[in-house]
Amino acid sequence: MNSSSSTLFLLCASLLFFVALASEKLPEFSSSNTEKWGSMHPNYAACSKGKRQSPININTNDVVANKTMKPLSRKYHIYNATLCTDGYDTEVAFNGRGELIIDGRTYKLKQMHWHTPSEHRLNGVQYPAELHQVHATDDGNRAVVAILFEYGKPDPVLTMLKPQLNELAKEPCQGGLERQVAIPWFGSSFLKKRPRKYYRYPGSLTTPPCDENVIWSVLTKVESITKDQIEALKAPLCEANKIKNARPTQPLNGRKVQKYDGK
Ligand SMILES: *[C@@H]1O[C@H](CO)[C@@H](O)[C@H](O)[C@H]1NC(C)=O
Ligand SMILES: *[C@@H]1O[C@H](CO)[C@@H](O)[C@H](O)[C@H]1NC(C)=O
Repeated sequence: MNSSSSTLFLLCASLLFFVALASEKLPEFSSSNTEKWGSMHPNYAACSKGKRQSPININTNDVVANKTMKPLSRKYHIYNATLCTDGYDTEVAFNGRGELIIDGRTYKLKQMHWHTPSEHRLNGVQYPAELHQVHATDDGNRAVVAILFEYGKPDPVLTMLKPQLNELAKEPCQGGLERQVAIPWFGSSFLKKRPRKYYRYPGSLTTPPCDENVIWSVLTKVESITKDQIEALKAPLCEANKIKNARPTQPLNGRKVQKYDGK
């Protein structure tokens, strides 16, 4: 592994980042026991004790329009990327620069990954898939842009990634071990869409350690995906996570979801 691919490896393993930092190995989690995450390890305590957990159901009649919110300001310059999985989800780690600015704070693009079916729900409806574009500040605060997918036309990003997805699926899941495939070119144009409307709320990571330092922006526009593309996303995952890798919705505990209406 050369130095640039080991940098990618670290980006790729963001879910396992805390494992690398801590001297002891944190327990592997799966979607079959989401209710037990909080008691698996002290570092995972927020998963059960937290008061602003994600995902949530967004009741669209109950959102608050906020006129001072701004469109999502994003600048991405991506060259290469790596497709990878730890068996829980399928992820793209980016080689390049990207930033999302929220309330004057800069969050750098780290990776994006898919959940099948969706984690967030709109009016109780769970969609076939959800994409999370994960950004973080240098001091570790996160901003995630979530995009829901319903069945329809193929998603162009997944059409582009088909060869790498097939390659990744060739190696079977090995108990949380990282597997990766290089994506020689990943144009920023795929991420340049300027979504206007979105829902915003304060939440958490949807996997252990369930850190409560995430600003969520869930786009109101539902995109489309095919059944084959969903199967390709699931193929590299460990068995329980193939069935689903979506955490159930969490209580709002008084949180209000805000909406940016695009003006
Ligand atoms: C409305 O949005 C602005 C900009 O994001 C934010 O600073 C403010 O706290 C929000 N208003 C309320 C009532 O939450
Ligand atoms: C992208 O990857 C290719 C193949 O590994 C490499 O030759 C090229 O320099 C990379 N480009 C950038 C901008 O990192």
